Amino acid sequence: MTSTSHGTQPVINTEPSHHYDRVHEAWELLMGAEFHYGFFADARTPLAAATAALTEEMIRRARFAPGDRVLDVGCGTGRQACDLAERFDVELVGITTSETGVDAGLHQAANRGLVQVSFEQRDGTDNKFPDASFDVVWVLESSHLMRDRRALLSECVRVLRPGGRLVLCDIIRRREIPFLEVRSRRREFGVLRAAFGDAHMEPLADYAETLRGLGMTVHDATDISAETLGTFAAWRANAETYRDQVIQLIGLDSLDEFVEATEILERFWGDETLGYGILSATR
Ligand SMILES: C[S@@+](CC[C@H](N)C(=O)[O-])C[C@H]1O[C@@H](n2cnc3c(N)ncnc32)[C@H](O)[C@@H]1O
Repeated sequence: MTSTSHGTQPVINTEPSHHYDRVHEAWELLMGAEFHYGFFADARTPLAAATAALTEEMIRRARFAPGDRVLDVGCGTGRQACDLAERFDVELVGITTSETGVDAGLHQAANRGLVQVSFEQRDGTDNKFPDASFDVVWVLESSHLMRDRRALLSECVRVLRPGGRLVLCDIIRRREIPFLEVRSRRREFGVLRAAFGDAHMEPLADYAETLRGLGMTVHDATDISAETLGTFAAWRANAETYRDQVIQLIGLDSLDEFVEATEILERFWGDETLGYGILSATR
């Protein structure tokens, strides 16, 4: 991070070399400390409580036991991996294709004195870990970035020990999108791609079916689109609250794009094109 916070008013470092940190800071202002969707018990739930609640939904399904070896696929900044290792006394390996993410994770683990956490640059669709080497595989909102979903899931299953658990949550596609509709909504898809990167969504049932085909027992595959819908309004509220700071960090165009993307996603949730799912399975 390139800023120090005084309450909610960050002091911004505008050096060009701090570009990545500025983007990171902007997203932290817009999305909160945890960069993922929230699980809203009701519309009044604050965003921070909702993002924590989504993590709790994953934790409940992961059933961590002390000493478990856990693989976090698509570990982001590594913050969550460190939190889990600290809280549940598990050994955690975070992987991401991002070198910056690995550096951020290593830095975080070192700062917090967590020797049982490591971060490595590896691809979730071909992780190269030995077979049956983890008790839990944790995939929080990263699967939509791995187009070869079958390769991701079969790698997750391969590295699990017999009895090991897979927990995953992500944005899902809730219906077929006809070609003509894809064409007519091309602009909306373009805005989403510009704001959040290239993503590929699949039905939750397809994840479950693939996992069953790989010999897993799927315990639940739950559509939580309704519970995650509040995320967009919360992100927009932050865009309003931190407007000046975010513009200083990433510029007005990027802020406008972000806000428009939240409106598009809200529409997609509303017409049941996209949504959010969570699942757990045992090898
Ligand atoms: C939206 S972030 C989720 C971060 C984290 N799980 C969280 O919830 O805070 C997606 C993460 O997936 C990683 N990622 C994207 N493609 C990947 C791949 N093929 N293999 C491993 N990680 C990947 C990105 O680098 C990023 O860390």
